[in-house]
Amino acid sequence: MKVHIITPFPEMVNSIVESSILGKARERGCVEYQIYNLFDFSDKSSNKRIDDYPFGGGSGMILKPEPIFEAFKFIEKGLHDTNSARVIYPTPDGKLLNQDLSYELSRIDEIVIINGHYKGIDQRVRDSMVTDELSIGDYVLTGGELAGMVILDSIVRLIPDAINSKESADLDSFSQPLLDGPHYTRPSNYKDMKTPEILLSGNHKEIEKWFREKREEKTKLRRPDLWEKYKQLKEGSR
Ligand code: ADE
Repeated sequence: MKVHIITPFPEMVNSIVESSILGKARERGCVEYQIYNLFDFSDKSSNKRIDDYPFGGGSGMILKPEPIFEAFKFIEKGLHDTNSARVIYPTPDGKLLNQDLSYELSRIDEIVIINGHYKGIDQRVRDSMVTDELSIGDYVLTGGELAGMVILDSIVRLIPDAINSKESADLDSFSQPLLDGPHYTRPSNYKDMKTPEILLSGNHKEIEKWFREKREEKTKLRRPDLWEKYKQLKEGSR
């Protein structure tokens, strides 16, 4: 997968894609990142300004269309297939990201992420190039970088071989759709807080059953919406 990221804060994005799973995935050859500084595409005549006041009034600044169109034109030249590439714009008024969508996006060869900032980006950018307007939750962050990185992280870890074991991605919260269950590691007894006996028993069948029960309990309690979905899927597979 090749990921192109347009941002006014390249250092911020760079430090994230360099580290942890995103960095490892690059080392493993699963993904390549290209980061574009939005200021490099700004119009010299406007004093390298990338934002401006909104028409019609209101607070906050809007990212101007020209630098984003210019950056996109530059990226587009290098894309293998413009039609199958996905262009993501993280925004609180977008469609809520979920694991199914992350899976879908992890199978795409070329992704462009446009990180907005301030109050947002000019609507004409959204109308003409964005394919996926995505929200990471019902709260507002100061900029699109962190949201863009959350989206990218959730996609990259699902690319085959990006992380050590596909199994661990498959068992995640939401992939079943059940929340993840409790995990323990050594020491089995820490200051009298004990690991459940079953996990030390070596009985894989019983351990699997125990995990599933814990996941079901948690899902039922915390996410009635997912619980309903899970029950329906379970009934459908009978
Ligand atoms: N930008 C600011 N807040 C956001 C959110 N909740 N989701 C996606 N992008 C955002």
